[in-house]
Amino acid sequence: MQHVRRSPEEIAANRARYEEHQRKGLEFAPKALPAPSPLPAPPVDAVRVVHQEVIPGGWYWSTRIKRGETLRIAQQQGFSTVTLVAWNAAETSERLNLPDTVKMQWTTALSKGRVIFSDISQDLLDYCRKAADAEGLLARCAFVLAAADRLTGVADASVDAVTTRSVLIYVKDKAAALREFYRVLKPGGRVSLFEPINVLMSAADPDRFSGYDVTPVRALAAKVQAVYESIQPPGVDPMIDFDDRDLVRHTRNAGFPDIDLELRVSVKARKQPIPWEQFLRTSGNPLVPTFGDALDRSLSQQEAAEFTSYLRPLVETGAGLERRAVAYLTAAKE
Ligand SMILES: C[S@@+](CC[C@H](N)C(=O)[O-])C[C@H]1O[C@@H](n2cnc3c(N)ncnc32)[C@H](O)[C@@H]1O
Repeated sequence: MQHVRRSPEEIAANRARYEEHQRKGLEFAPKALPAPSPLPAPPVDAVRVVHQEVIPGGWYWSTRIKRGETLRIAQQQGFSTVTLVAWNAAETSERLNLPDTVKMQWTTALSKGRVIFSDISQDLLDYCRKAADAEGLLARCAFVLAAADRLTGVADASVDAVTTRSVLIYVKDKAAALREFYRVLKPGGRVSLFEPINVLMSAADPDRFSGYDVTPVRALAAKVQAVYESIQPPGVDPMIDFDDRDLVRHTRNAGFPDIDLELRVSVKARKQPIPWEQFLRTSGNPLVPTFGDALDRSLSQQEAAEFTSYLRPLVETGAGLERRAVAYLTAAKE
């Protein structure tokens, strides 16, 4: 590179020109920040659209914009930003360098916190998007349809925290999910999980059906229970194949050096009393039939009547044990 020497007079002249430009610019500059743009941006009236084009990711495009025309750039998916440089055609030293502007907004958004909502259910993501929109928070949210054990679309070392509630209980390969959580976390990032530990709940009381002592109708209860076990085999189904020690082991194996797990087990002598019809419409979790369906599938009419006449008073008076076991796990990546 050739170094251009300037005389003190030239330096002073350049400086004066620069200051004059700055002074003129400040005369036109707004004296207060504009109000935030509405989100999402209001739709453009179709008859007023002069030109519309889809630019592939990583591609470039140029155009001439006349006074009074507006350019709108919208990103339908992905996380990257647009680089835009605009020159005044009549005075090319006057320009707008959007990469800097966008980076600034991006940084500001980051400091306020951004959330990636991820789930395997598109319905749930849509619901979540609506809720974020209603709060005016869409600009700080991203929605990723992915399984917890394969977080495709979330980059390595890109997030500060991963948090889930009652999600790993649905995931067969919990070890892989914890490896994914480790992968997407930045160094120093943290994971915070809440999981029910089902094997320490109803499965811990074989003489009970949903917490009610069914010893006098044991054979009938076993038939109803068999419906559930055929759908969710104990020790095999993701909901009942793990306990708190497995969560710690998977977390450790994923690479987290510091782990904290708090197990809370509570047993209450009474359950919430509920009307029998309501009990028949409930189920232990969303993946299994309701108690009413399970009764229909497993018992004859006479058996169902016998089972009902025994269980109904217990359900309606709350004469059963309420057992809960939940684990809170936190861990940090080095
Ligand atoms: C009991 S709900 C919990 C929802 C929410 N976390 C809460 O606490 O209200 C379980 C969620 O896990 C999601 N899920 C099930 N299997 C999953 C998987 N393999 N990967 C990611 N999410 C999964 C379901 O779609 C559902 O939204």
